[in-house]
Amino acid sequence: MTLSVNLQAVAYLVSAVLFILALKGLTHPASARRGNLYGMLGMLIAVVATLMGDQVQSYGFIIVGMTLGAIIGVIVALRIQMTAMPQLVAALHSFVGMAAVMVAIGTFLTKRGAGELNALLMGEISAGVVIGAITFTGSVIAFGKLQGLLSGSPVKFKGQHLLNALLGIATLALAVHFAMTGSLISLTLMTLLAFTLGVTLIIPIGGADMPVIISMLNSYSGWAAAATGFTLHNNLLIIVGALVGCSGAILSYIMCKAMNRSILNVVFGGFGSDSGGAESAGAVAAEKGVKSAAVEDAVYWMEDANRVIIIPGYGMAVAQAQHALKELMELLEARGVEVKFGIHPVAGRMPGHMNVLLAEADIPYDRVLEMDEINPDFPSTDVVLVVGANDVVNPAAKDDKTSPIYGMPILEAGRARQVYFLKRSMRPGYSGVDNLLFYQENTSLVFGDAKDTIEGMNSALKGGGH
Ligand code: TAP
Repeated sequence: MTLSVNLQAVAYLVSAVLFILALKGLTHPASARRGNLYGMLGMLIAVVATLMGDQVQSYGFIIVGMTLGAIIGVIVALRIQMTAMPQLVAALHSFVGMAAVMVAIGTFLTKRGAGELNALLMGEISAGVVIGAITFTGSVIAFGKLQGLLSGSPVKFKGQHLLNALLGIATLALAVHFAMTGSLISLTLMTLLAFTLGVTLIIPIGGADMPVIISMLNSYSGWAAAATGFTLHNNLLIIVGALVGCSGAILSYIMCKAMNRSILNVVFGGFGSDSGGAESAGAVAAEKGVKSAAVEDAVYWMEDANRVIIIPGYGMAVAQAQHALKELMELLEARGVEVKFGIHPVAGRMPGHMNVLLAEADIPYDRVLEMDEINPDFPSTDVVLVVGANDVVNPAAKDDKTSPIYGMPILEAGRARQVYFLKRSMRPGYSGVDNLLFYQENTSLVFGDAKDTIEGMNSALKGGGH
């Protein structure tokens, strides 16, 4: 049974609406599950409507491909660790990129055989090949860096920007030549250059900047899919490609804004590395009068507090301290203390990193507030517990015009009565910038792994405190 063109269009429209609802749902942890369901339903309708359309000539290869893909997908989804999510996303983007390249080249060969080539179609094919090829190799490099198969540090060499510029110009020139002449040589060279460009663009980027790059590649994969949609005259692919392209671009923008950096600075800056920053002058900092405190000191202040705000950061993810934090929250709440979590938009190393971990520990969403919501509460807060966060509370972002993070919005932890940092050393965070809050009168550092320290606090609270 084949679906009429009109019915297929209606099914595609329903899918498109479901995809938009999916994106809407994914904007908040409470509605994210529902958003995922909308997305799955939309994709199911899209696949069924496409398979029932009159363009399908034989089902054999499609069934084999779908079965193999589904088996691999289910295995990967069941086995993937939460921490390996970014590289999985990178791998998936590479598939989209390669699919766009293959569809474009396949369309060119078929239409050339049938004598149906025209300049518009070849322009679409060029766009699909170039964006798809850059997305493919760029995503493969991103995957390699995040998986630890390649060095996570920025790989820099002399003349890098010039090389990228020349590659970009040559690719563009070949794309125009191909669109005008349909030359197979131009198509081949353009494809090879675009594959190379994907490598040379992504290889210089530091591992820790990868979240922004993944989101940028996500956007590219969307545009590659949209170009494929034009080639195949598939409206849903154009809509979905545009949704992915725009949402990826908006997410990259949000991340850059929260770090007060431009996308060009991320792509060309080589800022930060996997190591979480250079070793700071720890001894010098200690000499400057940084106060260290014992677990019991922090517990003493928290027990008697009216309000405690916990600020999680990358170190909470490293220590996997979220479950211990949930217990700490419950122990304090049982004593009548109001406990809230303050989340900075770029805390951790990927969008929503902290929200995902806190949700995993079943910390209720109403305790988890975003930066703008919680900042007014700090002056009336007794204790702020900074759990493995650093840059996101650094007042240098507001007060030191010379600081590389100047202008980045921060959680204003320093305005509370007492601030306790839970970290292992005097090392700075991702930006490599010393934290001015360490030296503030009301700040103390509790040294140690965050999970161990919080478990120590929980035992002290359970054992009747200090
Ligand atoms: P950071 O500033 O990177 O600080 C993390 C802190 O965690 C470090 O000071 C480290 O100190 C501590 N730490 C590490 N392991 C720990 C452990 N096991 N126990 C206790 N502490 C531990 O983190 P942040 O405040 O979350 O800021 C995020 C940074 O990443 C920002 O600069 C942001 O721009 C950048 N960034 C974020 C994203 C996204 S989308 N989230 C993307 C790219 C870049 P010790 O080594 O002394 O323990």
